[in-house]
Amino acid sequence: MEPTTHTHPGTEKITAGSHSTLWIDSVEPLAFSKPEGDMETDVVIVGGGLAGITIAYCLSRSGKKVIVVEDGFVGSGETGRTTAHLVTALDDRYYELERMFGEEKTRLIAESHKTAIDFIEDVVKSNHIRCHFERTDGYLFLHSSDDIESLDKEYVAAKTAGLDVEQLLSVPGIKNYNGPGLRFANQAKFHPLRYLKALCELIQNNGGIIYTNTHAKNIDHTGIVTDSGLKISAKHVVVATNTPVNNKVVMHLKQYAYRTYVIGAKIKKDSVPHSLWWDTGDFDVNENIPPYHYVRTQKLDDTHDLLIVGGEDHPTGLADIEKIPEEDRYQLLENWAREHFDIEDVQYKWSGQVMEPMDGLAYIGKNPFDKNNVYIVTGDSGNGMTHATIAGLLIDDLIHERENKFKDLYHPSRLMLSAAGSFLKEFIGGFANYFKTKEKDSHPNELNTLKQNEGKTLDLKGKKYGVYCDENDQLHFVGAECTHMKCAVKWNNDEKSWDCPCHGSRFSYEGKVLNGPANEDLPYHNEMKPDSITIKNK
Ligand SMILES: Cc1cc2nc3c(=O)[nH]c(=O)nc-3n(C[C@H](O)[C@H](O)[C@H](O)COP(=O)(O)OP(=O)(O)OC[C@H]3O[C@@H](n4cnc5c(N)ncnc54)[C@H](O)[C@@H]3O)c2cc1C
Ligand code: FES
Repeated sequence: MEPTTHTHPGTEKITAGSHSTLWIDSVEPLAFSKPEGDMETDVVIVGGGLAGITIAYCLSRSGKKVIVVEDGFVGSGETGRTTAHLVTALDDRYYELERMFGEEKTRLIAESHKTAIDFIEDVVKSNHIRCHFERTDGYLFLHSSDDIESLDKEYVAAKTAGLDVEQLLSVPGIKNYNGPGLRFANQAKFHPLRYLKALCELIQNNGGIIYTNTHAKNIDHTGIVTDSGLKISAKHVVVATNTPVNNKVVMHLKQYAYRTYVIGAKIKKDSVPHSLWWDTGDFDVNENIPPYHYVRTQKLDDTHDLLIVGGEDHPTGLADIEKIPEEDRYQLLENWAREHFDIEDVQYKWSGQVMEPMDGLAYIGKNPFDKNNVYIVTGDSGNGMTHATIAGLLIDDLIHERENKFKDLYHPSRLMLSAAGSFLKEFIGGFANYFKTKEKDSHPNELNTLKQNEGKTLDLKGKKYGVYCDENDQLHFVGAECTHMKCAVKWNNDEKSWDCPCHGSRFSYEGKVLNGPANEDLPYHNEMKPDSITIKNK
């Protein structure tokens, strides 16, 4: 069966892509009012994803007046597109973290993620939140491109870091895999938007305010100015926009944006354990950041669960380099899922964006080269659920000037030279690929070659435009220069967006900014629309 694209009427334009997700489809959009006048507060938080909302919850609980400002609805960014594994078994291998940070700090890293899961569990239990939170085991198994030695090294390093981990000769739940694995105890999973919904209620009960459909246009140490020109003045400013829109350069030299893909397929209820699974990643595709598969189950109905399978990552805007367009990646995921699980039809497909920091840890704390009252959270590293929760606890302590043992570990100014080698290779390789594909992407005046539902960058009247032909043969023209630092955007036919390969900014086909670091829309050129045009090859 063809996978369906689910949409919420009226909300399509404010999620970070054209596909909807299981989470977004199963909760009413978390929409609140818009501000009506200038205001003052203790803390203004930009971004209503898991990071912004957890920070707001922690601060409102500890007595601060908070205002959250969210561009779309709460959870309309990457939090609505996640797969919500809550793990201490991190995406970056513990033996790599130990090489970069040493044993003591690696123990602290493991402890910080354990603290985050315990915190979520505690909030869920003490507030009776019905968000399908469930403790479970997680299984790491070998990708065929990887050596068995990597599982042995990971076992020793994870054990040294203090985790409850066990070596296994076989992995439960997965078929056509006869190798060994590791079992990580005390992992968890939940429904992220149900959890967010409950946190929003708690924030409001604590006197906090959440505004949605409100863009923070200007951000500095005095507060923010919204798109309608209202000023929210604050003693502290927190930018939790997934990638910081207030830090134009420094942070974007230390992290890199990747697209990642998800399918949700029906499986017979309780036919596999309610666990998490990950393979160690495909080193043939990328030896620095090997894309891996990640799998979990989620309750669906009386007869079926949904198996949620993710993977097939690539640097944002550069899918062409592997000659696999964005929209073809779901079929690869489905093939892989059918090989390892008894899935029935695919119900969902969606993609999202993760930020890979150079050393595998998020950046949480004071914004480098800024005033002392401006904070950022970024660099989720695919473990953004726990990193967002660590941010809630850490930024609460920083604002209250309380000690926090994780402060230095996550400091955004840190530079781990031991991580620089492979990161630089990835970074420079990314730029080389950008220039390679930029050349090929330069089409002269080929307006009439556009097909329905296709986008292209075209040179028209001496200027470069991004042109998308929608399903009604309407053409949409946007400026093709990213509003962050002017790189050329590329069409993503899967999510119907213009994606920037330089630092991961994304824009809808009408130019609305979907992902930072850009904070301004692409110009929409209505005047370029021709009176009539014949669209070929429908
Ligand atoms: C497919 C996928 C699978 C993943 N799986 C996992 C997983 O299993 N486990 C895990 O731990 N992590 C996972 N992650 C990562 C995790 O989901 C994210 O890191 C996390 O949700 C990010 O939360 P956030 O609050 O930082 O960002 P977001 O949820 O993106 O929130 C940022 C918000 O800021 C808003 N915003 C941006 N600019 C402005 C502005 N100027 N004014 C107002 N608002 C603005 C946006 O609209 C957005 O809603 C996954 C990510 C993806 C994409
Ligand atoms: S994201 Fe930096 S130039 Fe586009």
